[in-house]
Amino acid sequence: MSLAELQRLESQSVIGTYVRQPVEFVRGEGSWLWDADGESYLDLLCGISVTNLGHCHPRVVEAVREQAGTLMHVSNLFYTEPAMELAARLTESSLGGKVFFCNSGAESIEAAVKLSRRAKAAGGVVTISGGFHGRTYAALSATGQEEKQAPFAPLVPGFTTVAPTVEALGGAIGPDTAAVIIEPVQGEGGIRPVPDEVLAFARQACDEHGAALVLDEVQAGMGRTGTLWAYEQTPVVPDAITTAKALGGGLPIGALITGPRLADALRPGDHGSTFAGGPVVARAALAALEVTDDPELLARVGAVGERLREEIAGLPGVSEVRGRGLMVGFDLETGGAPELVGAALGAQKIVINATGPQTVRLLPPLTITDDEVATALERLAAALEGHGG
Ligand SMILES: Cc1ncc(COP(=O)(O)O)c(C=O)c1O
Repeated sequence: MSLAELQRLESQSVIGTYVRQPVEFVRGEGSWLWDADGESYLDLLCGISVTNLGHCHPRVVEAVREQAGTLMHVSNLFYTEPAMELAARLTESSLGGKVFFCNSGAESIEAAVKLSRRAKAAGGVVTISGGFHGRTYAALSATGQEEKQAPFAPLVPGFTTVAPTVEALGGAIGPDTAAVIIEPVQGEGGIRPVPDEVLAFARQACDEHGAALVLDEVQAGMGRTGTLWAYEQTPVVPDAITTAKALGGGLPIGALITGPRLADALRPGDHGSTFAGGPVVARAALAALEVTDDPELLARVGAVGERLREEIAGLPGVSEVRGRGLMVGFDLETGGAPELVGAALGAQKIVINATGPQTVRLLPPLTITDDEVATALERLAAALEGHGG
Protein backbone atom coordinates (compact mmCIF):
# COMPACT_ATOMS: atom_id res chain seq x y z
CA MET A 1 0.00 0.00 0.00
CA SER A 2 1.32 3.46 -0.88
CA LEU A 3 1.57 6.32 1.64
CA ALA A 4 -1.29 8.06 -0.22
CA GLU A 5 -3.47 4.97 0.29
CA LEU A 6 -2.61 4.83 3.99
CA GLN A 7 -3.53 8.50 4.30
CA ARG A 8 -6.85 7.87 2.53
CA LEU A 9 -7.67 5.00 4.91
CA GLU A 10 -6.71 7.18 7.87
CA SER A 11 -8.94 10.05 6.83
CA GLN A 12 -11.87 7.67 6.23
CA SER A 13 -11.50 5.33 9.18
CA VAL A 14 -9.26 6.66 11.95
CA ILE A 15 -10.50 9.18 14.53
CA GLY A 16 -8.31 12.18 13.87
CA THR A 17 -6.50 12.69 17.17
CA TYR A 18 -2.97 12.50 15.74
CA VAL A 19 -0.99 14.69 13.35
CA ARG A 20 1.35 12.24 11.64
CA GLN A 21 4.51 12.87 9.63
CA PRO A 22 4.18 11.73 5.99
CA VAL A 23 6.31 8.60 6.26
CA GLU A 24 5.52 4.91 6.68
CA PHE A 25 8.08 2.93 8.66
CA VAL A 26 8.31 -0.75 7.91
CA ARG A 27 11.40 -1.98 9.78
CA GLY A 28 13.73 -1.03 12.63
CA GLU A 29 17.09 -2.26 13.89
CA GLY A 30 19.21 -0.62 16.59
CA SER A 31 19.20 3.17 16.09
CA TRP A 32 17.79 2.93 12.56
CA LEU A 33 14.37 2.86 10.91
CA TRP A 34 13.55 2.07 7.27
CA ASP A 35 10.64 3.47 5.26
CA ALA A 36 8.61 1.67 2.63
CA ASP A 37 11.03 2.81 -0.13
CA GLY A 38 14.05 1.34 1.68
CA GLU A 39 15.36 4.75 2.85
CA SER A 40 17.08 4.66 6.29
CA TYR A 41 16.50 7.17 9.11
CA LEU A 42 18.49 7.74 12.30
CA ASP A 43 15.95 7.51 15.13
CA LEU A 44 16.67 10.14 17.80
CA LEU A 45 13.21 9.85 19.39
CA CYS A 46 12.72 6.14 20.18
CA GLY A 47 8.94 6.25 19.75
CA ILE A 48 8.92 8.93 22.50
CA SER A 49 11.31 7.18 24.90
CA VAL A 50 9.97 3.65 24.34
CA THR A 51 12.62 1.81 22.29
CA ASN A 52 15.38 2.90 24.67
CA LEU A 53 17.50 -0.12 23.72
CA GLY A 54 17.09 0.53 20.00
CA HIS A 55 14.67 -1.23 17.69
CA CYS A 56 14.20 -4.97 18.00
CA HIS A 57 16.88 -5.54 20.65
CA PRO A 58 17.84 -9.23 20.24
CA ARG A 59 17.34 -10.05 23.95
CA VAL A 60 13.82 -8.56 23.95
CA VAL A 61 12.92 -10.20 20.62
CA GLU A 62 14.10 -13.60 21.86
CA ALA A 63 12.12 -13.29 25.11
CA VAL A 64 8.94 -12.25 23.26
CA ARG A 65 9.25 -15.00 20.61
CA GLU A 66 9.75 -17.69 23.21
CA GLN A 67 6.95 -16.52 25.49
CA ALA A 68 4.49 -15.89 22.62
CA GLY A 69 4.87 -19.50 21.56
CA THR A 70 4.35 -20.80 25.09
CA LEU A 71 1.64 -18.78 26.88
CA MET A 72 0.24 -15.36 26.03
CA HIS A 73 -2.55 -14.62 28.49
CA VAL A 74 -4.37 -16.07 31.48
CA SER A 75 -5.47 -12.89 33.38
CA ASN A 76 -4.63 -11.91 36.94
CA LEU A 77 -6.89 -14.63 38.35
CA PHE A 78 -3.87 -16.96 38.16
CA TYR A 79 -0.11 -16.99 38.69
CA THR A 80 2.50 -16.62 35.97
CA GLU A 81 6.22 -16.51 36.66
CA PRO A 82 7.20 -13.53 34.46
CA ALA A 83 4.92 -11.08 36.34
CA MET A 84 6.05 -12.16 39.81
CA GLU A 85 9.71 -12.12 38.80
CA LEU A 86 9.36 -8.70 37.16
CA ALA A 87 7.65 -7.24 40.25
CA ALA A 88 10.49 -8.51 42.43
CA ARG A 89 13.16 -7.11 40.09
CA LEU A 90 11.42 -3.73 39.89
CA THR A 91 11.09 -3.27 43.65
CA GLU A 92 14.64 -4.52 44.33
CA SER A 93 15.98 -2.01 41.82
CA SER A 94 14.02 0.91 43.28
CA LEU A 95 11.85 1.64 46.32
CA GLY A 96 11.62 -1.78 47.97
CA GLY A 97 7.82 -1.87 48.29
CA LYS A 98 5.35 -3.51 45.89
CA VAL A 99 4.19 -3.19 42.27
CA PHE A 100 0.84 -2.76 40.53
CA PHE A 101 1.02 -3.55 36.80
CA CYS A 102 -0.97 -1.74 34.12
CA ASN A 103 -0.65 -1.12 30.39
CA SER A 104 0.36 2.51 29.90
CA GLY A 105 1.70 5.65 31.51
CA ALA A 106 -1.70 7.22 32.09
CA GLU A 107 -2.89 4.07 33.83
CA SER A 108 0.12 4.13 36.11
CA ILE A 109 -0.93 7.64 37.17
CA GLU A 110 -4.52 6.48 37.73
CA ALA A 111 -3.14 3.74 39.98
CA ALA A 112 -0.98 6.26 41.87
CA VAL A 113 -3.98 8.52 42.50
CA LYS A 114 -6.12 5.60 43.73
CA LEU A 115 -3.28 4.38 45.95
CA SER A 116 -2.78 7.84 47.48
CA ARG A 117 -6.49 8.36 48.15
CA ARG A 118 -6.84 4.86 49.57
CA ALA A 119 -4.08 5.81 52.00
CA LYS A 120 -5.64 9.22 52.76
CA ALA A 121 -9.36 9.27 52.01
CA ALA A 122 -10.75 12.11 49.84
CA GLY A 123 -7.38 13.85 49.85
CA GLY A 124 -6.31 16.44 47.29
CA VAL A 125 -3.70 15.93 44.60
CA VAL A 126 -1.15 18.68 43.95
CA THR A 127 0.85 18.86 40.73
CA ILE A 128 3.13 21.46 39.13
CA SER A 129 2.78 23.31 35.85
CA GLY A 130 4.85 22.07 32.93
CA GLY A 131 4.14 18.47 33.92
CA PHE A 132 2.37 15.99 31.65
CA HIS A 133 0.78 12.87 33.09
CA GLY A 134 -1.46 11.47 30.35
CA ARG A 135 -4.88 11.67 28.73
CA THR A 136 -7.23 9.60 30.90
CA TYR A 137 -9.37 11.54 33.37
CA ALA A 138 -7.25 11.49 36.52
CA ALA A 139 -4.04 11.81 34.48
CA LEU A 140 -5.55 14.73 32.54
CA SER A 141 -6.74 16.30 35.79
CA ALA A 142 -3.13 16.07 37.02
CA THR A 143 -1.89 17.76 33.82
CA GLY A 144 -2.53 21.41 34.54
CA GLN A 145 -2.84 22.62 30.96
CA GLU A 146 -5.96 24.62 30.22
CA GLU A 147 -6.05 23.84 26.48
CA LYS A 148 -5.88 20.08 27.09
CA GLN A 149 -8.38 20.09 29.98
CA ALA A 150 -11.02 22.66 28.99
CA PRO A 151 -12.81 20.70 26.21
CA PHE A 152 -13.31 17.76 28.57
CA ALA A 153 -14.61 19.44 31.72
CA PRO A 154 -15.72 18.58 34.31
CA LEU A 155 -12.49 16.92 35.39
CA VAL A 156 -11.83 14.77 38.46
CA PRO A 157 -12.32 16.92 41.58
CA GLY A 158 -9.55 17.63 44.06
CA PHE A 159 -6.63 18.38 41.72
CA THR A 160 -4.58 21.59 42.00
CA THR A 161 -1.72 22.62 39.73
CA VAL A 162 0.72 25.30 40.94
CA ALA A 163 3.93 26.90 39.70
CA PRO A 164 7.07 24.77 40.19
CA THR A 165 8.33 26.84 43.12
CA VAL A 166 8.78 26.29 46.85
CA GLU A 167 6.40 29.18 47.62
CA ALA A 168 3.62 27.89 45.38
CA LEU A 169 3.91 24.33 46.68
CA GLY A 170 3.98 25.66 50.24
CA GLY A 171 0.63 27.35 49.62
CA ALA A 172 -0.93 24.25 48.04
CA ILE A 173 0.20 21.30 50.18
CA GLY A 174 -1.66 20.99 53.48
CA PRO A 175 -3.41 18.63 55.90
CA ASP A 176 -5.95 17.60 53.21
CA THR A 177 -3.34 16.65 50.59
CA ALA A 178 -3.16 12.97 49.67
CA ALA A 179 -0.51 13.19 46.96
CA VAL A 180 1.98 15.44 45.24
CA ILE A 181 2.74 14.17 41.72
CA ILE A 182 5.80 15.54 39.95
CA GLU A 183 7.65 14.59 36.74
CA PRO A 184 11.30 14.91 37.87
CA VAL A 185 12.40 15.93 34.37
CA GLN A 186 9.44 17.41 32.50
CA GLY A 187 9.47 15.82 29.05
CA GLU A 188 6.44 17.16 27.17
CA GLY A 189 7.07 20.44 29.01
CA GLY A 190 10.30 20.93 27.05
CA ILE A 191 12.89 18.75 28.87
CA ARG A 192 13.06 20.74 32.11
CA PRO A 193 14.63 19.15 35.19
CA VAL A 194 12.66 20.20 38.28
CA PRO A 195 14.99 22.11 40.66
CA ASP A 196 16.35 20.09 43.59
CA GLU A 197 15.00 22.55 46.15
CA VAL A 198 11.46 22.16 44.79
CA LEU A 199 11.66 18.37 45.09
CA ALA A 200 13.23 18.58 48.55
CA PHE A 201 10.48 20.93 49.71
CA ALA A 202 7.76 18.64 48.28
CA ARG A 203 9.32 15.72 50.18
CA GLN A 204 9.37 17.66 53.44
CA ALA A 205 5.80 18.95 53.01
CA CYS A 206 4.50 15.46 52.17
CA ASP A 207 6.18 14.08 55.31
CA GLU A 208 4.69 16.85 57.42
CA HIS A 209 1.14 16.22 56.16
CA GLY A 210 1.22 12.45 55.62
CA ALA A 211 0.84 12.81 51.84
CA ALA A 212 2.44 10.60 49.19
CA LEU A 213 5.22 12.02 47.03
CA VAL A 214 4.81 10.35 43.63
CA LEU A 215 7.41 10.87 40.92
CA ASP A 216 6.18 10.28 37.38
CA GLU A 217 9.05 8.42 35.69
CA VAL A 218 7.02 7.35 32.67
CA GLN A 219 9.36 9.25 30.32
CA ALA A 220 12.45 9.83 32.51
CA GLY A 221 12.78 6.33 34.00
CA MET A 222 14.34 3.11 32.67
CA GLY A 223 17.82 4.54 32.22
CA ARG A 224 16.85 7.58 30.16
CA THR A 225 18.59 10.10 32.45
CA GLY A 226 21.72 8.01 33.10
CA THR A 227 20.52 6.20 36.23
CA LEU A 228 17.98 3.40 36.16
CA TRP A 229 15.44 5.70 37.87
CA ALA A 230 15.44 9.48 37.56
CA TYR A 231 14.85 10.01 41.30
CA GLU A 232 18.34 8.60 41.97
CA GLN A 233 19.77 11.92 40.73
CA THR A 234 17.52 14.00 42.96
CA PRO A 235 17.76 14.70 46.69
CA VAL A 236 14.54 12.76 47.41
CA VAL A 237 13.29 9.22 47.75
CA PRO A 238 9.62 9.25 46.70
CA ASP A 239 6.83 7.12 48.19
CA ALA A 240 6.03 5.77 44.74
CA ILE A 241 7.13 6.04 41.13
CA THR A 242 5.22 5.45 37.91
CA THR A 243 6.84 3.86 34.88
CA ALA A 244 5.72 2.75 31.39
CA LYS A 245 7.14 3.70 27.93
CA ALA A 246 10.56 1.92 27.88
CA LEU A 247 9.60 -0.64 30.53
CA GLY A 248 8.50 -3.25 27.98
CA GLY A 249 11.40 -2.85 25.56
CA GLY A 250 8.87 -1.71 22.93
CA LEU A 251 5.73 -3.51 24.17
CA PRO A 252 3.00 -1.79 26.21
CA ILE A 253 3.33 -2.23 29.96
CA GLY A 254 3.19 0.23 32.84
CA ALA A 255 3.73 -0.06 36.57
CA LEU A 256 3.20 1.76 39.82
CA ILE A 257 6.08 0.94 42.18
CA THR A 258 5.69 1.83 45.86
CA GLY A 259 8.04 2.16 48.77
CA PRO A 260 7.37 0.18 51.96
CA ARG A 261 4.91 2.68 53.52
CA LEU A 262 2.30 2.38 50.76
CA ALA A 263 2.98 -1.21 49.73
CA ASP A 264 -0.26 -2.53 51.22
CA ALA A 265 -2.49 0.54 50.87
CA LEU A 266 -4.52 -1.01 48.01
CA ARG A 267 -6.44 -4.13 48.99
CA PRO A 268 -8.05 -7.05 47.14
CA GLY A 269 -10.71 -5.76 44.74
CA ASP A 270 -9.57 -2.12 44.93
CA HIS A 271 -8.04 -1.97 41.45
CA GLY A 272 -7.32 -4.21 38.48
CA SER A 273 -6.71 -4.59 34.76
CA THR A 274 -7.37 -7.61 32.52
CA PHE A 275 -4.17 -7.47 30.46
CA ALA A 276 -1.79 -6.04 33.06
CA GLY A 277 1.46 -7.89 33.65
CA GLY A 278 0.69 -10.54 31.03
CA PRO A 279 3.45 -13.09 30.39
CA VAL A 280 4.63 -11.72 27.03
CA VAL A 281 5.00 -8.09 28.10
CA ALA A 282 6.46 -9.12 31.46
CA ARG A 283 9.11 -11.29 29.77
CA ALA A 284 9.90 -8.41 27.40
CA ALA A 285 10.24 -6.08 30.40
CA LEU A 286 12.49 -8.52 32.28
CA ALA A 287 14.80 -8.66 29.26
CA ALA A 288 14.74 -4.86 28.86
CA LEU A 289 15.45 -4.35 32.57
CA GLU A 290 18.37 -6.80 32.55
CA VAL A 291 20.01 -5.00 29.63
CA THR A 292 19.29 -1.49 30.98
CA ASP A 293 20.34 -2.04 34.59
CA ASP A 294 24.01 -2.10 33.67
CA PRO A 295 26.36 0.44 35.30
CA GLU A 296 28.50 0.74 32.16
CA LEU A 297 25.52 1.43 29.90
CA LEU A 298 24.06 3.95 32.37
CA ALA A 299 27.37 5.80 32.82
CA ARG A 300 27.68 6.07 29.06
CA VAL A 301 24.14 7.55 28.83
CA GLY A 302 25.31 10.38 31.10
CA ALA A 303 28.49 10.97 29.08
CA VAL A 304 26.81 10.87 25.65
CA GLY A 305 24.09 13.21 26.90
CA GLU A 306 26.74 15.72 28.04
CA ARG A 307 28.47 15.51 24.65
CA LEU A 308 25.21 16.06 22.77
CA ARG A 309 24.27 19.07 24.92
CA GLU A 310 27.72 20.63 24.57
CA GLU A 311 27.81 20.24 20.80
CA ILE A 312 24.19 21.25 20.21
CA ALA A 313 24.82 24.49 22.15
CA GLY A 314 27.29 25.46 19.37
CA LEU A 315 24.92 24.78 16.46
CA PRO A 316 23.39 27.67 14.49
CA GLY A 317 20.13 29.13 15.79
CA VAL A 318 20.15 27.29 19.13
CA SER A 319 19.42 29.58 22.09
CA GLU A 320 19.30 27.20 25.09
CA VAL A 321 20.02 23.52 25.70
CA ARG A 322 18.61 21.53 28.65
CA GLY A 323 18.31 18.01 29.90
CA ARG A 324 19.68 15.11 31.87
CA GLY A 325 21.31 12.02 30.39
CA LEU A 326 19.78 11.26 27.01
CA MET A 327 16.76 13.51 27.57
CA VAL A 328 17.87 16.48 25.51
CA GLY A 329 15.87 19.62 24.67
CA PHE A 330 16.89 22.80 22.91
CA ASP A 331 15.18 26.07 22.05
CA LEU A 332 15.38 27.80 18.67
CA GLU A 333 16.15 31.52 18.49
CA THR A 334 13.55 32.05 15.77
CA GLY A 335 11.03 29.35 16.74
CA GLY A 336 9.54 27.10 14.05
CA ALA A 337 10.42 23.85 15.86
CA PRO A 338 7.63 21.77 14.20
CA GLU A 339 8.81 22.95 10.76
CA LEU A 340 12.42 22.05 11.62
CA VAL A 341 11.29 18.57 12.72
CA GLY A 342 9.47 18.01 9.40
CA ALA A 343 12.43 19.25 7.36
CA ALA A 344 14.92 17.18 9.39
CA LEU A 345 12.86 14.06 8.71
CA GLY A 346 12.43 14.72 5.00
CA ALA A 347 15.82 16.13 4.04
CA GLN A 348 18.22 14.83 6.70
CA LYS A 349 16.54 11.51 7.56
CA ILE A 350 16.65 12.03 11.31
CA VAL A 351 13.66 11.45 13.59
CA ILE A 352 13.30 14.23 16.16
CA ASN A 353 10.33 15.94 17.82
CA ALA A 354 9.01 19.36 18.85
CA THR A 355 7.38 19.86 22.26
CA GLY A 356 6.18 23.33 21.26
CA PRO A 357 6.86 26.12 18.76
CA GLN A 358 10.28 26.91 20.28
CA THR A 359 11.57 23.58 21.56
CA VAL A 360 13.07 20.49 19.92
CA ARG A 361 13.30 17.22 21.88
CA LEU A 362 15.76 14.37 21.39
CA LEU A 363 15.32 11.00 23.11
CA PRO A 364 17.95 8.88 21.32
CA PRO A 365 18.54 5.19 22.01
CA LEU A 366 20.62 4.60 25.16
CA THR A 367 22.67 2.26 22.95
CA ILE A 368 23.51 4.91 20.32
CA THR A 369 27.14 4.52 19.13
CA ASP A 370 29.73 7.32 18.99
CA ASP A 371 29.63 7.22 15.17
CA GLU A 372 25.84 7.55 15.23
CA VAL A 373 26.14 10.54 17.59
CA ALA A 374 28.52 12.17 15.09
CA THR A 375 26.05 11.46 12.26
CA ALA A 376 23.18 12.86 14.37
CA LEU A 377 25.09 16.08 15.02
CA GLU A 378 26.07 16.52 11.35
CA ARG A 379 22.49 16.02 10.19
CA LEU A 380 21.08 18.25 12.93
CA ALA A 381 23.55 21.00 11.97
CA ALA A 382 22.50 20.71 8.31
CA ALA A 383 18.81 20.85 9.28
CA LEU A 384 19.44 23.94 11.44
CA GLU A 385 21.37 25.64 8.64
CA GLY A 386 18.48 24.93 6.27
CA HIS A 387 16.12 26.38 8.89
CA GLY A 388 17.95 29.69 8.64
CA GLY A 389 19.90 29.21 11.88
C1 LIG B 1 5.74 11.84 32.08
C2 LIG B 1 4.59 11.16 31.42
N1 LIG B 1 3.61 10.64 32.17
C3 LIG B 1 2.57 10.00 31.62
C4 LIG B 1 2.46 9.86 30.25
C5 LIG B 1 1.29 9.12 29.65
O1 LIG B 1 1.73 7.90 29.14
P1 LIG B 1 0.85 7.09 28.07
O2 LIG B 1 0.86 7.85 26.80
O3 LIG B 1 1.54 5.75 27.98
O4 LIG B 1 -0.51 6.96 28.67
C6 LIG B 1 3.45 10.38 29.42
C7 LIG B 1 3.35 10.29 27.95
O5 LIG B 1 3.98 10.99 27.21
C8 LIG B 1 4.55 11.06 30.03
O6 LIG B 1 5.53 11.58 29.29
